[in-house]
Amino acid sequence: RPGTGEGARGLRFTPVAPNTADVVTAPEGYAQNVVIRWGDPILRGAPEFDPDNQTAEAQAGQFGYNCDFLALLPLRGEHRRQILVANHEYTSEPMMFRGYDADNPTREQVEIAWAAHGLAAVVVEEDRRTGKLTPVPRHRLNRRVTATTEFRLTGPAAGSDLLKTSADPTGTKVLGTLNNCAGGETPWGTTLHGEENFNQYFANATRTTDSRYGIGSGATERKWELFDKRFDIAQEPNEPHRFGYVVEFDPYDPDSTPRKHTALGRFKHEGATVRLTHDGRPVVYSGDDERFDYFYKFVGSKRMRHGSSRWAREHNLSLLDEGTLYVAKLTGDSPAIEIDGTGKLPNDGEFDGSGEWIPLATATADGAVSHVEGMTAEEVFVFTRLAGDKVGATKMDRPEDVQPNPVTGKVYVALTNNSRRGTSGNAPVDEANPRIGNKHGQVLELTERWNRADSTKFAWTLFLVAGDPEDPATYFAGFPKDQVSPISCPDNVAFDDYGNLWISTDGNALGSNDGLFGVPVKGSRRGELKQFLTVPNGAETCGPIIQDRRVVVAVQHPGEVDGASADNPVSTWPDGPGKAVRPAVVAVWRKDGCDIGV
Ligand code: FEO
Ligand code: CA
Ligand code: CA
Ligand code: CA
Repeated sequence: RPGTGEGARGLRFTPVAPNTADVVTAPEGYAQNVVIRWGDPILRGAPEFDPDNQTAEAQAGQFGYNCDFLALLPLRGEHRRQILVANHEYTSEPMMFRGYDADNPTREQVEIAWAAHGLAAVVVEEDRRTGKLTPVPRHRLNRRVTATTEFRLTGPAAGSDLLKTSADPTGTKVLGTLNNCAGGETPWGTTLHGEENFNQYFANATRTTDSRYGIGSGATERKWELFDKRFDIAQEPNEPHRFGYVVEFDPYDPDSTPRKHTALGRFKHEGATVRLTHDGRPVVYSGDDERFDYFYKFVGSKRMRHGSSRWAREHNLSLLDEGTLYVAKLTGDSPAIEIDGTGKLPNDGEFDGSGEWIPLATATADGAVSHVEGMTAEEVFVFTRLAGDKVGATKMDRPEDVQPNPVTGKVYVALTNNSRRGTSGNAPVDEANPRIGNKHGQVLELTERWNRADSTKFAWTLFLVAGDPEDPATYFAGFPKDQVSPISCPDNVAFDDYGNLWISTDGNALGSNDGLFGVPVKGSRRGELKQFLTVPNGAETCGPIIQDRRVVVAVQHPGEVDGASADNPVSTWPDGPGKAVRPAVVAVWRKDGCDIGV
């Protein structure tokens, strides 16, 4: 049958070979459609996309730019429909506007960029016979959240002096969300979204707390500070303290005010993924995507309530306000002398060891307590990186997605790369981050003690050390390396119903385009990595969702390579030559109507 191939259940397809084709390439026997693109109208009254006459008002009713995290939520009572929730991580003005003058952006261009950031909710309809998805414009649940939508700050640091500004003396009300990268779905029917590289929006920093977050001392590239003083730290010093959180969004209530959860800490949240403890409390994992930064877990103290009553939903929206925030510390179990970047395995045959979750602060209904000497609880929640520094957390190779496998309970941490690892003046290699100048990244597998989500101890092993399988420094969980696909720069991870791990990549350093891969994590095929698709030139692969009948990915920043622009494109995806290059969501399914990979 077409579309099948050898492999573990769920991964029986013929792998896609590495390539530089300016299209989405799926396995033989699979078909695809572009579900929704930057600029497609979703709200009532929004016009069709017209890139040469774009306005901020139009953009606020259209799908935003640079889609990253995706979720598909059930929509009961509406046949064959689901709610697609998407992050719009950032804008690339030179790719969006022909003739863009980076030194002199116009107010309209800046306001278009504000409206192109944030989140989108759009109802999509499933085709009766295929895996195709099409948007339902003007649906009552369709929504855009942008850089100017009102948010509520909640949790232990809400209302703190560190969060007050001249526009918001209460320290609880923020306009907008920025740089939403990955995210997660909660078991209570909301979505979480990580505010990642928020540093790039703020100008004129002077404090060490700013520089620890990468905020620069001069002007920003986008120059928003010239159009709204809140982006100028010299004028509004606390505004950057109001970004860098996990955002919670309720796609079922189009009138709800989205929240920023201070209890989950402030750092460059790649994303946030949730599981429940045995007694129904939420545990949230989150990576801080920076070279030599940490990954974290929050263990809630309140139990989730079941059902869709208003009472249960209100309660569940407060679950992430009380609990303890922890940071990870890892210890290898092999002599470091074996781990020297030359590709030798440690003397016990594995990159592995033990670890502990170090508590940073606890939030309760009566207030918050710091566990870090010399820092108040509010400081821990707002300057979380500095708390991690003080307790000696393990400096990782850029923690991206951190996600538990719903079938096995093991947790996977994508460590995307770290060009500075082990180089002069920087942290040396260790067993969890074993390569000097790490170009291709690794995936760490973490097993909580007793497989309990709230354990404070864990074991870990590197599941994958990425790169060209012919490179002796790579490792594919011990699977024969002549039977796996090359992979570089793991970023987002997802699971199918069989518990197979799916990995999307960002920044392939092997010279071919980014893509999506599937790999079994148990059984005799553990480590048999296969490439499922590749994306167009300059794009990264994001937001993978693996459903029975379809795989859905976000094609983020197609055509974005050094020197490229709307006037000088290096991609013609998705609409062909002469048309604007547009980030978009793509669905892939099997032509014969069978489930993915069976
Ligand atoms: Fe936005 Fe860490 O990738
Ligand atoms: Ca070892
Ligand atoms: Ca990412
Ligand atoms: Ca990335």
